[in-house]
Amino acid sequence: MSTGAAVRLHGLRIAYGESLTAEVDLEVAPGEIVVLLGPSGCGKSTILRAMAGLLEPVGGTAEIDGGSGEQCAMVFQEDALLPWRSARKNVEFALKLRGVPRPRRRAEALDLLHQVGLDGFAEHLPGALSGGMRQRVQLARTLATEPRVLLMDEPFGALDAQTRADMQRLLITVWQQHKTTVLFVTHDVDEALLLADRIVLLTPRPARIQRIVTIDNPRAPGARFEPEFARRRYEILAALGDTAELVATTTEEAS
Ligand SMILES: Nc1ncnc2c1ncn2[C@@H]1O[C@H](COP(=O)(O)OP(=O)(O)OP(=O)(O)O)[C@@H](O)[C@H]1O
Ligand SMILES: [Mg+2]
Repeated sequence: MSTGAAVRLHGLRIAYGESLTAEVDLEVAPGEIVVLLGPSGCGKSTILRAMAGLLEPVGGTAEIDGGSGEQCAMVFQEDALLPWRSARKNVEFALKLRGVPRPRRRAEALDLLHQVGLDGFAEHLPGALSGGMRQRVQLARTLATEPRVLLMDEPFGALDAQTRADMQRLLITVWQQHKTTVLFVTHDVDEALLLADRIVLLTPRPARIQRIVTIDNPRAPGARFEPEFARRRYEILAALGDTAELVATTTEEAS
C-alpha cells in the first residue's frame, strides 16, 4: 500500500527549442489531488512529462519527496496496454518490473483487477475489453508499480459520460485506499470540481499559474447538486475566459 509523496515544482521552466512552454511554482501535499486545468496546447502534458523525468527542464526543479521523478507513474489518455497480453498478464508485467517474485504476481494482479472492478475479465485480451475497461486495467497496472505520485493526463477524455463518471468514482475509491498524491490534467471543469482538493488554472501557452481554487469540502457525495458547485463552475469558466460555455450554461439554467 502506497502513501503519497510531497511534490515541489520550484521555478520549473520547460521549453521546446526557443519557445517557453511552461513556467510553474507549485507545492502539493502528500495525498493531495491537484487538478491542472487550462486551454488546449497551454503546456499541461508538458508539465507532467517534466515531473515524470521524461523532459529536461531549462530551469528550476521538480522534486518528489526531495528527489526526482522515479516515484511517479503516468496514466495517459490513450491506454498503453500490451495488446497480446491478457489483463492479468499486463498487470503482472508491471509487478515483475517492480521486482515482485513470480509466485506472488498472479494473486497480486487478480487483487488489483478486483480493486478496479474487473473480476471475471482477468484473462481477456485488451482488444476484447471496452474503452472504460481498458482504462481500469491501465489503472490497475499503474497501481501495481506502487507509485507515490500518480500523474494522470486526461485519462478519461475518450470515454462516454456514464463511463467517465464511473471512472471518477473508481479513482476516488482507489485513492482513498492508497492515498497516492495525484496530479490530474483535464479540460472538464466538472471533472476538476468532483476530484480536486485544489484546482490550478493555467494561462494559455506558456502555462503559468493564473489562479488556484481550493475546494472547501472535496469529493463530498452529492456536491454536484449543490449551489456552491454551480458557483465554482461559473467562477472557473469566467477565469478561463470560456465565454462560449458560459453562454451555454446560462441558457441551460434559464430554460
Ligand atoms: N515535442 C514537441 N516539440 C515541440 N513543441 C511541442 C512538443 N510537444 C508539445 N509542443 C508544444 O508545446 C505546447 C504545449 O503542449 P502540451 O502537449 O503540453 O499542451 P497541453 O496543454 O497538454 O494541450 P492539450 O490540452 O491539447 O493536451 C504546444 O503548443 C505544443 O505545440
Ligand atoms: Mg495534453
